[in-house]
Amino acid sequence: MTRNQTQPVSLEEITALAKRRGFVYQTGEIYGGLANSYDYGPLGTELLLTIKNLWWDYFIRRRDDMLGLDSQIMLHPQTWVASGHVDSFTDPLVEDLVTHKRYRADLLIEDYFKKNPQEQLVIADLSTKELADLIDKYQIKSPDGNPLSKAQDFNILFETAIGAVSDKKSRVYLRGETAQGIFTNFKQILNSNRQKLPFGVGQIGKSFRNEITTGQFVFRTLEFEQAEIEYFFDPEQNNWQDLFRDWQNYVWDFVTKVLGIDENNLRWRRHTDQERSHYSQETSDLEYHYPFGWKELCGIAYRTDYDLKKHQEFSQQSLEYTDPQTGKKFLPHVIEPAMGISRIFLMLLCDAYQKDPDRERLLLALKTNLAPFQLAVFPLLKNKQELVDKARDVYQQLRQKYQVAWDDRGNIGKRYLAQDEIGTPFCLTIDFTTLENDTVTIRHRDSAQQERLAISELDNYLASMLA
Ligand code: GAP
Repeated sequence: MTRNQTQPVSLEEITALAKRRGFVYQTGEIYGGLANSYDYGPLGTELLLTIKNLWWDYFIRRRDDMLGLDSQIMLHPQTWVASGHVDSFTDPLVEDLVTHKRYRADLLIEDYFKKNPQEQLVIADLSTKELADLIDKYQIKSPDGNPLSKAQDFNILFETAIGAVSDKKSRVYLRGETAQGIFTNFKQILNSNRQKLPFGVGQIGKSFRNEITTGQFVFRTLEFEQAEIEYFFDPEQNNWQDLFRDWQNYVWDFVTKVLGIDENNLRWRRHTDQERSHYSQETSDLEYHYPFGWKELCGIAYRTDYDLKKHQEFSQQSLEYTDPQTGKKFLPHVIEPAMGISRIFLMLLCDAYQKDPDRERLLLALKTNLAPFQLAVFPLLKNKQELVDKARDVYQQLRQKYQVAWDDRGNIGKRYLAQDEIGTPFCLTIDFTTLENDTVTIRHRDSAQQERLAISELDNYLASMLA
């Protein structure tokens, strides 16, 4: 089943479902909410864990050429000076001169041209000065209709301080990308693992960016999890274009096969020269068709030996690799596939969201391996103790292997609807026939069809359906 393109889902519908069913809550809602920050509720936490486990299994455990890492959020501050983030990790910022709310100049201009198509411009290619000139030329106003300040570069690294004194010496940064922990540990990884090139190091962890754009739900947040890989290779032995293509295919298969995303909602987009990050020689984004347009789900970049070279220079330590056969010493180059876990999360909700007007229901047609619960078990009636006891037995037995929900509230129809909208693929009902012949009804989420099955056959049946 694919998302119904004639009834596209809106971000408001996704946000409402996520809140109503406990996938995502706004951080600090009782205090009016914290901008660009979200907490994950019970079902959201399950889905996040599942995404991370699938990523780790596919990208790290299944490959001989991959190693895992878990580095700190606060790295040595020199890391960010060496990597260029202290100088170059900026967004163009403008301020509403009346309300003092801040906005990203490029996104405001993009919005303006969507509503008033006049010039054919690739906004991502423009410098901060060019953005400022456009705001002047078209007299672009803030979303509240007020004049804007001149666009200026704004560094999005978060600063904090270690220890009792807050001065220049105690300043540290919350990491802006997990990647730097991989580069700064490169020597230690080589020494402790004796891994031969080409090989990669992957990690999943929190990163922090002082994002100023609001209103894109979990797509763009201040604090978010990244799943990143640095794949090291000898540029004289491997052609970077081949490796780049291999990683594009590997990532594509993860998104379409493991996560089950509709290919029609995905496309690759190559970065223009101006748009690329300071460290990259080539970048392609895998974009997903979110309710607010085609946007980056993940990126693949050819970072050359930029980062290792910079860290070698700033640390005065050799970060070279020695080829065990030839003795040649050199700095490896890297291809970097980088994903955001919450962007995967949002994509999954959008892609799975379906309206079924015939049955007046909403359903999340998630792949069975992604649903927060694989099964739900219901006693037909709550006040018939024999039914409840039998249902409890079946529930306990299935919980040994699967994530199982229990529900005995309201009528069966309502329980089905409640499970459909959180994506539970199968509902099992224990009724009076169960007490006579040890069979249950299984109801399928997508077709809403039901069948009867012996309890003794459940194990094999579910193993084949949930594989
Ligand atoms: N190490 C490379 C790097 O950080 P990036 O394109 O800036 O590249 C990688 O980030 C991925 O992290 C993106 O493709 C996106 O999925 C995710 N990401 C970046 N900023 C984010 C934010 N503010 N909120 C949520 N996810 C974000």
